[in-house]
Amino acid sequence: MNPKEKFKIALSFSHYNFIYRNISSLKNINILEFGVNNGFSTSMFLNICNQNGGHLTSVDVDDYSGLFKNKRWTFLKSRDDNFSYIKKSIKKKLDVIYIDSFHEPNHIEKILFFYYKFLNKNGSIYIDDISWIPYVKNSYRVNSWNEIINRKTFSKILEIYFGNLKNLKLEFCFDDSGIAKLTKKTNKPLNNPKIVFNSEFSLKNCLRRVLNRKPKK
Ligand SMILES: C[S@@+](CC[C@H](N)C(=O)[O-])C[C@H]1O[C@@H](n2cnc3c(N)ncnc32)[C@H](O)[C@@H]1O
Repeated sequence: MNPKEKFKIALSFSHYNFIYRNISSLKNINILEFGVNNGFSTSMFLNICNQNGGHLTSVDVDDYSGLFKNKRWTFLKSRDDNFSYIKKSIKKKLDVIYIDSFHEPNHIEKILFFYYKFLNKNGSIYIDDISWIPYVKNSYRVNSWNEIINRKTFSKILEIYFGNLKNLKLEFCFDDSGIAKLTKKTNKPLNNPKIVFNSEFSLKNCLRRVLNRKPKK
């Protein structure tokens, strides 16, 4: 499949379309991508770099160096947490970081916290696979593992946001397997994630349920 065909397929996924709509007008964009595989997201980012000027660096543990031939593209065959190696390739601040590699919440947190310092103010981090809706029972892609891991990733992003209400803006797209967008509002370093307390499991709420109390109108 050639890059044009890949790009067309990428835009047919609404969650990629969400990213495209957000960044396609940015000039001279600098993008760091984790996770290449079929190259759909890569083709979308390269299309933007071709149109507006800019550069894409893509990282994957598997060798996808032959997938595209483009002077605006650097491919690094590496784990995403090989920090000392990858940071050598970050020559100027980033406008977009896209995380679609190892989908494990603590790993995503580690990646996000390390690369955040290379992100421009007003730049954004997109995290793929945050919706569990496609994977639940009676949905269209039933898979309990993906259901659980995506829900945990979603919660982790809420915790990162809750710890950084002044530093970050958070938006979600729930199409397909979902995308979270975190925008950097300040140049301050990130605070630690903060647990989002859930009153549903509090003693007070248990009593409410036992007594069948309803909210007052
Ligand atoms: C879901 S696929 C990426 C899909 C891609 N964005 C697309 O549009 O086709 C995940 C990719 O992440 C890579 N990967 C998994 N764990 C990784 C890690 N720790 N570091 C770098 N790449 C990793 C896998 O080799 C795989 O190619």
